[in-house]
Amino acid sequence: MIVTPPQPWWHAATIYQIYPRSFADSDGDGIGDLRGIADRLDHLVALGVDALWISPIFPSPMADFGYDVADYTGIDPRFGTLADFDALLAKAHGLGLRVLLDFVPNHSSDQHRWFVESRSSRDNPKRDWYIWRDPAPGGGPPNNWISDFGGPAWTFDPATGQYYSRAFLPQQPDLNWRNPDLRAAMLDAMRFWFERGVDGFRIDVLWHMVKHVDFPDNPPNPDFREGMGEMHRVLQLHSTDQPEVHAIAADMRELADRYDAVLVGEIYLPVPRLMTYYGSVDAPEVHLPFNFQLIEAGWNAAELADRITDYEAALPTGGWPNWVLGNHDRPRIATRVGAAQARVAAVLLLTLRGTPTLYQGDELGLPDAQVPADKVQDPRELREPGLGLGRDPVRTPLPWTGEGGFTSGAPWLPIDPAHLPLNVAAQADDPHSMLTLYRRLLALRRATPALATGAIHDVRAEGDVLTYVRNDGTDRYRIVLNLGHQPAAIAFEPGTVLLSTHDTATAATLRPDEALILKVD
Ligand code: GLC
Repeated sequence: MIVTPPQPWWHAATIYQIYPRSFADSDGDGIGDLRGIADRLDHLVALGVDALWISPIFPSPMADFGYDVADYTGIDPRFGTLADFDALLAKAHGLGLRVLLDFVPNHSSDQHRWFVESRSSRDNPKRDWYIWRDPAPGGGPPNNWISDFGGPAWTFDPATGQYYSRAFLPQQPDLNWRNPDLRAAMLDAMRFWFERGVDGFRIDVLWHMVKHVDFPDNPPNPDFREGMGEMHRVLQLHSTDQPEVHAIAADMRELADRYDAVLVGEIYLPVPRLMTYYGSVDAPEVHLPFNFQLIEAGWNAAELADRITDYEAALPTGGWPNWVLGNHDRPRIATRVGAAQARVAAVLLLTLRGTPTLYQGDELGLPDAQVPADKVQDPRELREPGLGLGRDPVRTPLPWTGEGGFTSGAPWLPIDPAHLPLNVAAQADDPHSMLTLYRRLLALRRATPALATGAIHDVRAEGDVLTYVRNDGTDRYRIVLNLGHQPAAIAFEPGTVLLSTHDTATAATLRPDEALILKVD
């Protein structure tokens, strides 16, 4: 008898990303909080997701809205208290929802006590917990590395006459993972949350964590064009994706596995490099290196078919796939592909093989918000304005009702009036809404092992139509997606239509922007 080992919980799970500042505000200060999340868990249960990933909730001066952590084992008072967190975790678990936090290991806040100590003198015991270098021989930064937010990746500290490395803002000094004490302290911080019961972490900019030991200049990028964002002037050859990062990821994995927790790594790299973050059989690394193919792909059937096929083919033995349509850093899917195709994208995300991650608001089909110039908050936009790099448009508060319903006070970013008709309450009662489509898709996925964890094959494009089969050895499902705005006919085996983006299903010809899920006879 063949015994199939049980699948880890996160194989069949769908993850929902909460951007906590903008999810729900319980106390009227205009900033979302943990109690707000706890009060609204019914939305996630009705939606049918299995796990939440909450963007950072730790004490922070908010220079980068929480991605500048001043204490890895606390809760920022704007979000609540540790007791609020424990209550949220208990409530989520009671509802069958797992909770992932956001671990930010590449850098801390400059207000973290470790950095305050580190910068206090060259011989402070914590000096080496951060990356300090002398100025270049002629003065100026130690090398040509550029911050991801533009400008040099170094800040001069006059008190001790050295530069510190910072891949993002000056308020986000890079931690030195080559230092064993720092490494132990950070793993302790992860352990702190695992012991409280968290089910995993999304790991921020994992591929940035280690820098080349000799700090050589990065080579110029031959493809750089004005308007791209200054970081692209050089290739990040020596400042990211260094071989030493893999042992660190393996240490994190070893810890996470002791708690049956999942690690999702944020890594923007080409597929062959991305795959290395799965690690090896002997030294596994993150369970799910985030796969951003659908964020980066041109929206046409041929390119999507190629990307799906190439990604699947590149997976290492035992490596479990994952898919993402959007997050708090990238333009929303409804804006990238339009409202009609965003419904097709929902079917794609929830029928591909692998763990899907859904960004808050995408289940409502929200487009990027218009944020008036005088309301801009994002340091990315403020540092390199006008290039379209700002992230505020994807971070505005979630519209719960026709009046907003996010806060009783003044929201930290305004709700775009165009978002109000797309509110949760209105869509919940509308059988044709995007929210209803997401609920039906998630319910079908949950009820259908072939869709949740079955194999994928026969991925191909025919004109504007993308199609593939999901199969668990017992049942076969064909997914057919019309990426175009014209009717399309393709031949496929007979079957029963289980779901269409267009409510009433006629399988003979695909209507414009229609996606179907069929159970093959
Ligand atoms: C990640 C986060 C982004 C943040 C950056 C620096 O890319 O997703 O929001 O600004 O890291 O921490």
